[in-house]
Amino acid sequence: MRILLTGGAGFIGSHTAVAMAQNGHEVVLFDNFTNSDPSVLDRLEKILGFRPIFEEGDIRNYAQMLDVLKRYQIEAVVHFAGLKAVGESVEKPLEYFDNNITGTITLLRAMKDANVKRIIFSSSATVYGTPQYLPLDENHPLSVTNPYGRTKLHVEEILKDLCASDPQWSAVCLRYFNPIGAHESGLIGENPRGIPNNLLPYVARVAAGKMKAVRVFGNDYDTPDGTGVRDYIHVVDLAEGHVCAAAYSQTHTGWIAINLGTGTGYSVLDIIHAYEKACGHSIPYEIVARRAGDVASNYANPQRAFELLGWKARYTLDDMCKHSWNFQKNCE
Ligand code: NAD
Ligand code: UFG
Repeated sequence: MRILLTGGAGFIGSHTAVAMAQNGHEVVLFDNFTNSDPSVLDRLEKILGFRPIFEEGDIRNYAQMLDVLKRYQIEAVVHFAGLKAVGESVEKPLEYFDNNITGTITLLRAMKDANVKRIIFSSSATVYGTPQYLPLDENHPLSVTNPYGRTKLHVEEILKDLCASDPQWSAVCLRYFNPIGAHESGLIGENPRGIPNNLLPYVARVAAGKMKAVRVFGNDYDTPDGTGVRDYIHVVDLAEGHVCAAAYSQTHTGWIAINLGTGTGYSVLDIIHAYEKACGHSIPYEIVARRAGDVASNYANPQRAFELLGWKARYTLDDMCKHSWNFQKNCE
């Protein structure tokens, strides 16, 4: 298929570009580089052996979206573009609503007008709010605790209404758990600007000696070692989940939500110790207060992804840390 990847220069988008291309799809990457860098295109070229088609632009620009969809005769869109920092969304809710909700509506209007009615959307396990039971399946009640989460839930609902309005639409909402790791080549990965918000990039920078110590947010949770438990998933597994979702959308219309996680939870200390093994030296850490809004444990029931998409995560936590470290060593 000819597939447009909005946010294709970002962390998950760039890995999905590789997986899609290696599975025979023609990909067009679209990004405004608010949270990525044009150099990713050079690195994708090294991995793929050819330079992927790229269009610079903003999903909020209807005319440009329509032009790109028509010019490349796009058949499906994988929609990654958006802002993703929970804390920042609390400070700047309007920017998040504009980028993530208005942006998606603009994209959907252009898709409708170009008669492209297949979308795979980057949703998040954040739509489950505070877990009422574990593991989280797709029927778990939905709720949100911050503006970022609200944008994911709203877009899911918008897609549901759109599918109800026209039986030709296919919308697959992939609810990601915690994507980490990097491509095996060490050429692409996650390298956030400034101080990382998420655990893995923070651990990677401490391991590289760029930051002093990991701050572990609380060790008094009701978990085996008292630190928070999450379902970490290798970004290449996640990328392959999109390839399976694209195939599914070719034969299925209507709306569906599907978890992409491994089904296994690891604690913050498990992560630090696995990373120590990967980098070959100890990683200093200190226990600090809990972070507001964090839950004790959060992990997926990935059964639906297996049943509907035939997809299952295959990488281990050690792989995730090893590949993250490979990439980290290449970062300036
Ligand atoms: P990322 O920031 O690395 O990638 C997003 C890309 O979208 C960036 O390259 C950015 O420049 C681009 N972008 C942002 N706004 C845009 C706009 N208006 N027009 C065009 N491009 C725009 O993030 P990621 O980790 O790759 O996440 C991709 C998607 O997955 C996001 O929608 C995110 O909310 C979602 N998600 C991520 C995680 C995670 O932990 N990484 C978890 C759940 C869901
Ligand atoms: N943590 C630390 N120290 C840090 C950073 C995180 O101890 O410096 C802990 C957190 O308390 C949590 C775990 O590590 O227990 C994972 O935290 P992350 O910030 O890496 O990830 P979250 O699970 O909080 O959030 C991620 C995405 C969100 C998304 C959510 C959905 O970042 O965008 O998963 O489940 F909404």
